[in-house]
This record gives sequence, structure tokens and C-alpha cells, in this order.
Amino acid sequence: MQQQTALTGIKPTGSPHIGNLLGAIQPAIEMAKDYKALYFIADYHALNAVKNPADLQSQIAQVAATWLAAGLDPEQVIFYRQSAISEVFEFTWILSCFTAKGLMNRAHSYKDAVAKNEAKANDPDFGINMGLYNYPILMAADILLYSAHKVPVGQDQKQHLEIARDIGQALNQNYGQDLVVLPEPMITEEVKTIPGLDGRKMSKSYDNVIPLFQPAKQLKKRISQIVTDSKGVDEAKDPDTCNLFQIFKLFAPPARAAEVAAAYRKGGLGYGQVKGELFELIDAFVAPGREKYEFYMAHPKELQEILHAGAAKARAIARPKLDQVRSAIGI
Ligand code: ADP
Ligand code: TRP
Repeated sequence: MQQQTALTGIKPTGSPHIGNLLGAIQPAIEMAKDYKALYFIADYHALNAVKNPADLQSQIAQVAATWLAAGLDPEQVIFYRQSAISEVFEFTWILSCFTAKGLMNRAHSYKDAVAKNEAKANDPDFGINMGLYNYPILMAADILLYSAHKVPVGQDQKQHLEIARDIGQALNQNYGQDLVVLPEPMITEEVKTIPGLDGRKMSKSYDNVIPLFQPAKQLKKRISQIVTDSKGVDEAKDPDTCNLFQIFKLFAPPARAAEVAAAYRKGGLGYGQVKGELFELIDAFVAPGREKYEFYMAHPKELQEILHAGAAKARAIARPKLDQVRSAIGI
């Protein structure tokens, strides 16, 4: 059987965080051992939210440097910027002609934005641009253009994958069953939703993240901001409902996590001590990548060269696929 393709993208809307690394980047790098892998920076997906050019540029560099620092080998993985492949935007138009408007009305991010407006008694579409509304179609194009079989993502992207399949199916139904490959999400159960400082999903949009590869001092400060209840050192605590412990157990060896859970129940262990230990664990976890991250942030030319070389390889897949689709539709 021909080797299958794995593909995923991260949008540069802020500094990458622990949730991105554990939920998406690490599983993807692991998959690259067995799949033909295409990983990219979804920079045009960021434009609906990031309108400041300096911020966008810096965040693109941060996401790219993060992938490389986390161990992505650009010889093994096709690593590129979404915006470098103009074929994807032509394909987006084609797909939009096969996308029911109702399907976009039901997309979670759009629905959430509408619900927020309604809660404030605003016009339902207040502040919502077409980039947000059409977001899932561009994402379907990202995936279908490269014939991806598997898409490693966190739980929050599941609906986007379902939408990509729906759109792909509409195309196949009209032009023949195997015009595009229908992708499947790869969601790693244990890391599908990493909690943030406040216990909600860690997300740039909630400002509750533990950023990656930042100087140790900043990391320490963020960890000190993890929200806990106000139980004193001696009081018994419940590890199952404690957000600090949920994050702790992602990084601690299982035996140590069990010890800490027991100490929680017994009393005598304070949150401050757990935070101190968590800092040591996360710092040791990110330390090997920090140097590489700082190197690429200080050498934008090297970073661009890697992305440029990746784009040439990505285009070599995208161009013939788009030609095939154009010919199928009669253009
Ligand atoms: P954010 O929610 O911070 O804006 P993105 O939407 O850019 O993050 O997510 C990039 C990738 O990281 C996606 O595959 C997403 O599912 C994954 N991801 C983001 N946050 C988490 C989290 N808290 N837990 C697990 N995976 C996550
Ligand atoms: N929507 C994804 C996110 O917010 C980013 C993304 C864009 C993506 N295109 C993609 C992920 C294609 C997987 C495949 O995280």
C-alpha cells in the first residue's frame, strides 16, 4: 500500500503554548515517522484575527521556530507557510461552491461569536468578518488539496474535520467517488484538551496559556498564576478537581503523580510547593528546545529558507491536484 499522508496546520494568532505542543505538535512529529507528513503555518487563517503586520510576522516566526525546536526535521517533513501556495485559495473558491451555507452557520466558532453578540443584545453578526465565517472552507482546502488521510489535531478541531469531509463528499458525489481523499482526525486521547491556568481549555483566546520556550523567569510567573482554591497547607485536597494537579500529572512521572495525589488527599502539601515542582518539571521539559527556538528567532533568514524549500515541495503536490480538479469541473 502507498504511504499515507498526515497533515496539520497551526495558525499564528499568538505565542505557541503547552496545549499546542502536547495536543498537536508532538503527536504530529511522532506521526511523521510513519506517514508522509505536511505541516504548515496557517498564516492566512490568522488574518481574520490579527490585523497588525508586525504582530502577524512575529507570530509566524514563533510558530515556525516552535515546530523546529520541538524536533520537526525539515528533511523528513514538508514544512511551509499556507500563504506560499496560492493554489489553495483557488481551490477554496471551488470548494465554497460545494459548501452549504447552513453548514457554515452551524460551525462552532461562528455560532459562539453570534451567541456572544446575542447575549449582549448586539446585532448577531456584529464584528464578524467573512474570514471567520469561511474559515472552515479554507481549512478544507488546506487538507483536501494535499490528499491528507490523517489530520493530527486537538479535540476543538473535530468539527472542522467533519466539515472538510462533508465538503469533500459533495465534490466526490458530483465528479466521481475518488476525486478527493476524505480525511480523518487523529485525536490523542490523553492530550486532547490540555487545561489552562483557569481550568478552561488552554487557549490563546482565553489568555490562560503557559507559553513555550519563554525565559525561565516568565515561565515561573505563569505557573504561579495557576488558579487553585484557597485551602491551606494542612487541609486535605481533591486532586481530581484541582486544575493545578491536572497540569502537574501531564509532566510528572506516573509514580510521582500518584504520590502527590495521595499527599493531596492526606493534607500537608501546599499548592505553592506543587507549583514549584511543576515549574522544575516544565522547565526541564522545554529546556532542550529553548536554545533552538532562540536560534531561529534570532536568524529569520534561516527560518525563511527552510519554509521556502518546504513550499516548493508542497507546491509539487498542490499544483497537479488542482489541475486534476480543474479538469474534472470543466475549467
Ligand atoms: P488556540 O486555541 O490557543 O488558539 P490553536 O487553535 O492555534 O490554539 O490550536 C493549534 C493546535 O493545537 C490545534 O490542533 C489544536 O487542537 C491544538 N490545541 C490548542 N489548544 C489545545 C489544548 N488546550 N489542548 C490540546 N490541544 C490543543
Ligand atoms: N484551524 C486550525 C486551528 O485553529 C488550524 C488549521 C488550519 C488546520 N488549517 C488546517 C489544522 C488544516 C489542520 C489541518 O488550530
